[in-house]
Amino acid sequence: MDPLQWAIESATEAGRLLRERSGALDIGEKSAPGDLVTAADRESERFIVDRLRAAFPRATILGEEGGERAGRAEERWIIDPLDGTTNYAHGYPLYCVSIGYERDGEVVAGAVYAPALGELYAAERGAGATCNGKPLRVSAIASVRDSLLCTGFIPARYERNGSNFARLSKRAQAVRRDGSAALDLCFVARGTFDAFWELDLSAWDVAAGALIVREAGGRVSACDGEAFAVDGASILASNALVHAEMLGALNE
Ligand code: IPD
Ligand code: CA
Ligand code: CA
Repeated sequence: MDPLQWAIESATEAGRLLRERSGALDIGEKSAPGDLVTAADRESERFIVDRLRAAFPRATILGEEGGERAGRAEERWIIDPLDGTTNYAHGYPLYCVSIGYERDGEVVAGAVYAPALGELYAAERGAGATCNGKPLRVSAIASVRDSLLCTGFIPARYERNGSNFARLSKRAQAVRRDGSAALDLCFVARGTFDAFWELDLSAWDVAAGALIVREAGGRVSACDGEAFAVDGASILASNALVHAEMLGALNE
């Protein structure tokens, strides 16, 4: 089966499952205060992994809740079964399922589905990015001063990003902290945010979203300007036009 089509179908079905469960939550904490997990995170991952094993039995699978299940090295599925768990737990509609497909070390297909928004973002390398089937394009804003930015951090890591947040909050029109890295990236792709950065993410947060930004004409790097790596922790994604100015601001 075509990986992009599979990612789209699986993200959509897992997202429906999340939406159904959203009334009756069983909320717990993981590694640190504020790092939440619900039974729905685990159920969504189980659902996707079971489907994956049937469709792509030899692929490697990396999921946030279950870690890595080793398979063929050249084919890896990277899954965040619920990105934006804190939002989800409080009924804030910015949460999603993110599924990326990596081939020979490069993410070539990805889907992000936000059930409470009814939005399905998808991209295939070289073929552009879409939301609900319509082509996406990053914004044409050329300066940070005119930008709407977004960032993210978990409570335990606030200090690492606090000075960037303060500096850019004074320089840009506004800085949002929306609580779902995968969706934040899609909002860069659709031209709502002009840039998004975060310092401490995991592959499942960014695999699909980074491809979606690039395929919408945006630029993606690490926050220090090095090449973006899906398994690296930091990401700066922008409309390309404000990228250099953002790098300057993040590295003052
Ligand atoms: C989190 C969200 C949040 C980001 C955190 C992530 P989760 O993922 O993407 O926006 O700031 O760093 O861990 O835990 O909701 O899947
Ligand atoms: Ca996540
Ligand atoms: Ca998650």
